[in-house]
Order: sequence, then C-alpha cells, then structure tokens
Amino acid sequence: MGNWKMHGCLADNTGLLQAVAKGAGELPAEVRVGVCVPSPYLAQAQSLLDGSRVVWGAQDVSAFTHGAYTGEVAAQMAADFGATFAIVGHSERRAYHRESAELVAVKTQRALEAGLTPIVCVGETLEEREAGSTQEVVGAQLDEVLARLSAEEAARIVVAYEPVWAIGTGRSASSQQAQAVHAFLRSRLTAKGAGVADVPLLYGGSVKPDNAEELFRQQDIDGGLIGGASLKDQDFLAICKAAAATAVAS
Ligand code: 13P
Repeated sequence: MGNWKMHGCLADNTGLLQAVAKGAGELPAEVRVGVCVPSPYLAQAQSLLDGSRVVWGAQDVSAFTHGAYTGEVAAQMAADFGATFAIVGHSERRAYHRESAELVAVKTQRALEAGLTPIVCVGETLEEREAGSTQEVVGAQLDEVLARLSAEEAARIVVAYEPVWAIGTGRSASSQQAQAVHAFLRSRLTAKGAGVADVPLLYGGSVKPDNAEELFRQQDIDGGLIGGASLKDQDFLAICKAAAATAVAS
C-alpha cells in the first residue's frame, strides 16, 4: 500500500497512477496493490484506477460522521469516491496533530461503519525503543483500538507497524526487529479472537526495492506501507514485485 502523504498534483498523479495500474496488472493475482492519496485526489484516483487491480484510499478520516467540523473529511465521503481503505493513526498525525490513541480508535470505528478497511498504524519512537518499551507502546496503541471493536469488526482491519525512527529516514528496521514486533502484534490480535489472527500486518518505514523482499519474507510481515518509494512508479512496482516473489514462495 502506498502512502503518498502530502505529495502530488493533478498533472504528476496521472502518469504515476497509470504506470502503477499497468504494472499491477502484470502481477500475480494474490498480490494486492493500493495507494492512499490526499483526499482532493480521490476522484482522480477513482477515474484512473477504476477497473484496474489497484485499490485506493484516504490517509485519514474524521472522527465525526458529518456536521460543523471545518476542514474535516468524513469516511463516507472517501467511500463516495470509491475508496476502500483509510489510514488511521499514522505517527505523523499522532505527532503533528496530537491525535490520541482514543481518537484513533474512534476514527477506526468511523472507517469501518463507512465500509472502509482501516489501516491502523502503530509504532514507537527511538527513545521508546531504547528504553525497552516498544511492546508496551505498540501494545497500548493496538489495545485502545481493539477494545472498541467486536471480534467481527477487528477481523476487518489492517495493522501497520511503523517505527517512527524508520519513517523517511532511510533507516529501515531490520527484518528481525520488524518480525519480532509483528509476532507480538499477531499474538495480541489472536487474543481478540480466532478470526482476528489473520488480520494483515504491514511494515512501514523506509521500505525500498532493495530491502522489501527480505522484510516480506518474514513470517508475520504480510506487506508494506510505503511512503517515499510509492511516489516513484518503478520503485513502487519493484516493491510490489518483491511482495509477489515472497507470496509465491510462501
Ligand atoms: P517512508 O517509506 O517514506 O519511510 O514512509 C513510511 C510511512 O510513513 C508510510 O506510511
């Protein structure tokens, strides 16, 4: 899944979306490809991706369904433009917009109600990792969301582990570091109910063509949430191919 963050313009998006749609069409059927675009571009994504193998989504949704909330975008509005996913709780929103774990949990509910698949992001800062509190931090972030969902709802989410220190830094978590946290998250999901154990777990944080395959080979890493590399069609497609290689192998 690509996360374009606040990048793009109508003219550049056209070439990128068309190239991704074309490249994705050549991948094995078991690989799922998507892009989360800035909300003003959802209509463009819909018009260029409809009928392709590529799904699209929003990068955030409001905690409210509608009303006097200037600047907010409701989950249902994204769904109106064919979005099937919405990222919630990205660390950039937690950090720069002071989103609390509780708010992220409410946004997850709004996304589910609108028929979207929420991609719930969790991750620790470098300080937290060095203090040995990674599991405590990501566990608490995930638990806040799971506490508000039934097992049936929880089975419909996606979780992304994105260590804050690996985002946009060029310094990915090692495959062992990522796998260890993914295994921990998997155990937390499994405790919620048998159907929740299979929730897809994405790794995000400096995923590039040259490290993607090694990451995706890990048992509990089901795919990636790709920032910078999703803005370059060849890099993004190379990462999708790495997912294809590991899907076929496993
Ligand atoms: P980068 O791939 O640019 O490190 O970003 C990761 C990310 O935050 C995806 O949501």
